[in-house]
Amino acid sequence: MQEALNSLHQEATTELETVTSSDALREWELKYLGKQGAVTKLMRGVGGLPSEERAAFGKRANEVKTALAESYSARETVIKAQELARDLSQGQIDITLAGRPLSVGGLHPSTQTLRRYREIWAEMGFQVFRSREVEDDDTNFTLLNMPPHHPARDMQDTFYTTTPNVILRTHTSPGQIRSMRALGADGTQPIRVILPGMCYRFEQITTRSEIQFHQVEGVAVGRGIRMTDLKGTIAEFARRMYGDNAQVRFRASYFPFTEPSIEVDVECFLCEGSGCRVCKYAGWLEIAGAGMMHPVVLRNGGYDPSVWSGFAFGMGPERVTMLMHDIQDIRYFWGNDLRFLEQF
Ligand code: FA5
Repeated sequence: MQEALNSLHQEATTELETVTSSDALREWELKYLGKQGAVTKLMRGVGGLPSEERAAFGKRANEVKTALAESYSARETVIKAQELARDLSQGQIDITLAGRPLSVGGLHPSTQTLRRYREIWAEMGFQVFRSREVEDDDTNFTLLNMPPHHPARDMQDTFYTTTPNVILRTHTSPGQIRSMRALGADGTQPIRVILPGMCYRFEQITTRSEIQFHQVEGVAVGRGIRMTDLKGTIAEFARRMYGDNAQVRFRASYFPFTEPSIEVDVECFLCEGSGCRVCKYAGWLEIAGAGMMHPVVLRNGGYDPSVWSGFAFGMGPERVTMLMHDIQDIRYFWGNDLRFLEQF
């Protein structure tokens, strides 16, 4: 057995000298040092030896194994250096070849519109207030002048959760209450905020309606704020967003949390009012619901409505983005189809 070990050592060493590539080196390692390798197999035979010879054999076998492992490492270093030198001298690296373009992500079309909204409102002195998407029924409805069973609740189909009173907000308007309570210092300070964020409605999905969509709410509370302030502010926003000549018009509307309530149209920015497919030949596009904050809402926000007044508005950026880019179906927005997203 000792001789077998010695001749195996000899054979492996001689063979290692003829190894000149990493692949051959790996084969050599498997052949001699691997789990099924010759050295391992020989070591397994120790059980068949007379007990007095076993210790000496085991010791020698370990010596051979260690010696071969060291020779392997030394050979590996030499081969790697040779291969590197070969690569460097013969390798065909054409450093003038243009690199492959890296594919970088872009901003989602809704994000682009939201950022523009935020920029404009910031320039006009509105700070961003983040309000929660998971709301309670009270804040989403009751505190906004829609008590339980109020018919106006039907205007916004709701996703309820299994926890009583916990819902997904159907609009950003509950943020009116939260921002007034958070920033109004118990109804003593004026506020001017926008509240961008996702809303959810349990609606029939159509080309124009999704079950999730963004809104940007705006709230201004102060002393002596009037309807003319609301109109002027929205007109200025439209001018900055849609161009210096953008015309706006206001139509009477109804929201339980504003009185009076209006809807705001901007003159179609594609046909400039002459009528086209996008504005359905009306010449006008709806951009916001708005109004003077209802006294009940102001009171729920901590303000005394005989001293304070305010306006609020709510805009839906997806529908505006659809118009700007001629997007035919709102379902593309959350469909995660790269063929759509890569166009922006
Ligand atoms: C509201 O949600 C009111 N909270 C807006 C408001 C705020 C009025 C403050 C007064 C004062 P409305 O349900 O009309 O209103 O929605 C506002 C905008 O959200 C719509 O004009 C539209 O752009 C967008 N929107 C509503 N539902 C959907 C939907 N299912 N998919 C996509 N966008 C939607």
